[in-house]
Amino acid sequence: MIEKIEKLKAEVAALQAHTADEVEALRIKYLSKKGALNELMADFRNVPAELKKEVGMKLNELKTLAQDRINELRDNVAVEATAGDDLDLTRTPYPIPLGTRHPLTIVKNEIVDIFSRLGFILAEGPEVEDDWHVYSSMNFADDHPARDMQDTFFVESHPDIILRSHTSSVQARVMERNQPPIRVICPGRVYRNEAISARAHCFFHQVEGLYIDKNVSFTDLKQVLLLFAQEMFGPDTKIRLRPSYFPFTEPSAEMDISCNICGGEGCSFCKHTGWVEILGCGMVDPAVLEANGIDSKEYTGYAFGMGIERITNLKYQVKDLRMFSENDTRFLDEFVSAN
Ligand code: DAH
Repeated sequence: MIEKIEKLKAEVAALQAHTADEVEALRIKYLSKKGALNELMADFRNVPAELKKEVGMKLNELKTLAQDRINELRDNVAVEATAGDDLDLTRTPYPIPLGTRHPLTIVKNEIVDIFSRLGFILAEGPEVEDDWHVYSSMNFADDHPARDMQDTFFVESHPDIILRSHTSSVQARVMERNQPPIRVICPGRVYRNEAISARAHCFFHQVEGLYIDKNVSFTDLKQVLLLFAQEMFGPDTKIRLRPSYFPFTEPSAEMDISCNICGGEGCSFCKHTGWVEILGCGMVDPAVLEANGIDSKEYTGYAFGMGIERITNLKYQVKDLRMFSENDTRFLDEFVSAN
């Protein structure tokens, strides 16, 4: 019996297999119910009592050896199978690292979140728009320079179809389908025919806000914008409104915040003025209300629009606009903690 065991041990140690089928055949030959090992186990009954201990130990050694050898052969065969032509050497190795939200998404979510707490609801519109929603209904004169090929991307052979150059078009989309009270916040991508550089891009992102109801005043606008600036940039942030012009608002203003990099002391970012511009705003021009089916004698409203890249630059000091669309994970990974 011991001889038999030793012989089998040598045999098992030298086993070879090249395919999964061969491994399986060996498993059946040695380890299955009717395999060589079980045959020996059956003989164990006839071993004299004084030898049972020694033989039992040897039998167990053989069993472990056989199991280990067959498992080893199985692993080798599996590795060889995946080492063929179908092995994808470009695949990200495990563990696959978790992605992060894009900085523009982080900031957009923050802006939308602040305004939702003030009762604004989310509204979106198409990026491929028509002239009416982007320009005419927003009170742009026919010869307004923004309609020029230099600023606007046109869809070839459809002069009326353009890529929206601002999210103010969503104002028109909302007004044509809803009567006041209207209170919406509209984030989205916009396109302009600009040469790409560190400071300009042919697409970027804006958030538009619109509030229309009875008795809405400029004071309401100012108060909401102050609250936004302080939520976004900290409670010590100050705002300042400068008169401006937009076709769709009257009066119009541009809003600066106290420079959040130097705290208003003056630095290279704010060109030593202590202030940085962050948005345009104003009271919705009655002509815009009328063009979109809202009675301008009964209702007034305010609107504002800001660039998400600009707000992100202020929060995170991103120096080159192109970083936002390059998808360099070294840049994106810097925002892990902001997620
Ligand atoms: N649409 C303007 C732009 O793209 C931004 C803007 C200014 C939006 C004033 C407004 C507003 O709603 O009231 O530059």
